[in-house]
Amino acid sequence: MDLFSEIENPEREELRALRRELEEQNYKYYVLNAPTMSDREFDEKMHRLQALEAQFPDMFDPKSPTQHVGSDLAVKGYGLSVTGKGFETVKHKYPMLSLANSYSREEIEEWVRKLPAGVEIVCELKYDGLSISLWYEKGVLVKALTRGDGQQGDNVVDNIKTIPSVPWKIEREDVPDWFELRGEVLLPWERFEALNKEREEQEEPLFANPRNAASGTLKLQDPREVARRGLDAYLYYMLGENLPGKTHFERLNTAREWGFHISDAIKVCHSVDEVMAYIAYWDTERKNLPVATDGIVLKVNNLAQQEELGYTAKTPRWAIAYKFPAEKQLTLLREITYQVGRTGVVTPVANLEPVQLSGTMVQRATLHNEDFIKSLDIRPGDMVWVEKGGEIIPKITGREKREEELSTLNSPTSLNSKLSTFNFTNKCPECGAELVRIPGEAAWRCPNEAGCPPQIKGKIEHFVSRKAMNIDGLGAETIDLFYQKGLLHNIADIYDLKLEDIAAQERLGEKSAQNILDGIEASKSVPWARVLFALGIRMVGETTAKKIARRYNTIDSLQWATTEQLCSIEDVGPQIADNIVAYFSDMSNMEILDRLRRAGLQMEGEAAPEPTSDALAGQTVVISGTFSQHSRDEYKALIEANGGKNAGSISKKTSFVLAGENMGPEKRKKAESLGIPLMSEEEFLERITL
Ligand code: IVH
Repeated sequence: MDLFSEIENPEREELRALRRELEEQNYKYYVLNAPTMSDREFDEKMHRLQALEAQFPDMFDPKSPTQHVGSDLAVKGYGLSVTGKGFETVKHKYPMLSLANSYSREEIEEWVRKLPAGVEIVCELKYDGLSISLWYEKGVLVKALTRGDGQQGDNVVDNIKTIPSVPWKIEREDVPDWFELRGEVLLPWERFEALNKEREEQEEPLFANPRNAASGTLKLQDPREVARRGLDAYLYYMLGENLPGKTHFERLNTAREWGFHISDAIKVCHSVDEVMAYIAYWDTERKNLPVATDGIVLKVNNLAQQEELGYTAKTPRWAIAYKFPAEKQLTLLREITYQVGRTGVVTPVANLEPVQLSGTMVQRATLHNEDFIKSLDIRPGDMVWVEKGGEIIPKITGREKREEELSTLNSPTSLNSKLSTFNFTNKCPECGAELVRIPGEAAWRCPNEAGCPPQIKGKIEHFVSRKAMNIDGLGAETIDLFYQKGLLHNIADIYDLKLEDIAAQERLGEKSAQNILDGIEASKSVPWARVLFALGIRMVGETTAKKIARRYNTIDSLQWATTEQLCSIEDVGPQIADNIVAYFSDMSNMEILDRLRRAGLQMEGEAAPEPTSDALAGQTVVISGTFSQHSRDEYKALIEANGGKNAGSISKKTSFVLAGENMGPEKRKKAESLGIPLMSEEEFLERITL
């Protein structure tokens, strides 16, 4: 770089900064729905950027915000890519290690004995989420890597940017050129409970604990959904070259000054007694925290001492975790009852003698299915162990020996326990229908779809839910009331509801009746993909419905689709295809669809482009790595346009892998082991132009 470019630098630097800032605003506006700049300010900055770009034509960049409209899709550039697909795999600068665990004062004492005399120990909470590594370059957040395998992780920066407490940029003179902050991504209890409640209503599988929920959320491809779920992050470790401070404690305080979310619960301790007092305090107090914790982390404070102590292959010697004991109680299993869901799945529920666990009274726990009960060999009358670790939903983890088993020990010939194992019900507890168990599934199911009350009500609840037809005002209670009063028997009845019928119900005046009718009216413009999801066809979730609706843009075309044709859609396997075919062969469904159509629902959408060639007919293609000529989305579209099917993971059915740069080592290994050929970007393009 010569002297002139140095002199020009302020304006060139301003140009770069404006690009970054405007890109960030586009992201906040289009993806997060939370702009932090007025339209006017945005326009002024855009004009300034245009002027600067005209002044420096050599700095033209097709990725500049002046060259594209803000979008919630493939925006690439300036480290703000919303790629929409997959994640970039990046090698960690420093491996992400784990911590050795300890469970008692003795183990902590043993660890302290190996440290230099008089060391200071920083005590911190051990957050129970997912570790994340944030990379800051010149004060700008450029990457956020998951732990991955410890050596390399996924760059989930677009999702991390939805967390309000993570700064995108640190506006200070004193930040080093490059540094890394590690911490934990968490879904706060409150958000976790709300998310599970929502999933329960939608009959989607529940997350067992906030950690799983955070992990599922961080890997979502849609940052808007991530933003909606409300992750948080706590940071606890700064790394890099030439960083300020001689102690870990100082560094965390510096990070706090720079605007990072650092827990207030960090404390410097000077003795094992002090450490134990910290543990005792937080073992109780942690129940009042907004996020899950599962222990304490002890770290040597002095950084020179840390370096001296170094690492074993897997863990630092300068830090150790102390794990809180999982809370466990023994209680009586009074009875096993059953719950019937929207799709007729019958779930066994343990009704327990109430016990206190982690500050809440527990009296029910799910037993999942028949196999789960068999694997624990439990039945009413048993004393069972109930546990609540990081989980909000209590788990039954085992049982005490029964008296008869104890006596069996004395007389081994007794067969008592064998004689009375638990029998799963064979009748629907709600409607009395005979249950069926579909081969390959763990669940028993009530087949009486049209006559079983929780199934009828559940289907209506699903139909009106937010992600489906989004009919405000028709909550579970109102649906139950309308069902009892004979106003609602199926989803089509919703569109026959009259103002006077609704207003005549107790608790519902004319105003709320009108609200409901307005919601029903508005639902008539809900797009076809969501209508398809709302129908509640088994295993057709939101995403699958979108993909099906793209291929079959009218209900009439979908109605005649065969299992084979449906299977060529991404994510649709034989089971889902069979469910769709079965749905349309049921006359009562056809009647309902006819009524919905007459009510004015959207049963047509935009057509997906017809295949332009059959160069890839019958081929299943997996895309892996990064590409230079087209985006992944474009390759996906090209595969479909040429009659092929795009699949997410490699299996025996894969015809070939479209392999770009940096293909993941796992995928490569899998392809090799199954003998699936790899095809380069160039080879692929040649193939489809033939
Ligand atoms: S320090 C090299 N501090 O616990 C040491 N880890 O079981 C880096 N964790 O992988 C980790 N809270 O994900 C550290 N205050 C804290 C922590 C913490 C939670 C997690 C972290 C780590 C795991 C090890």
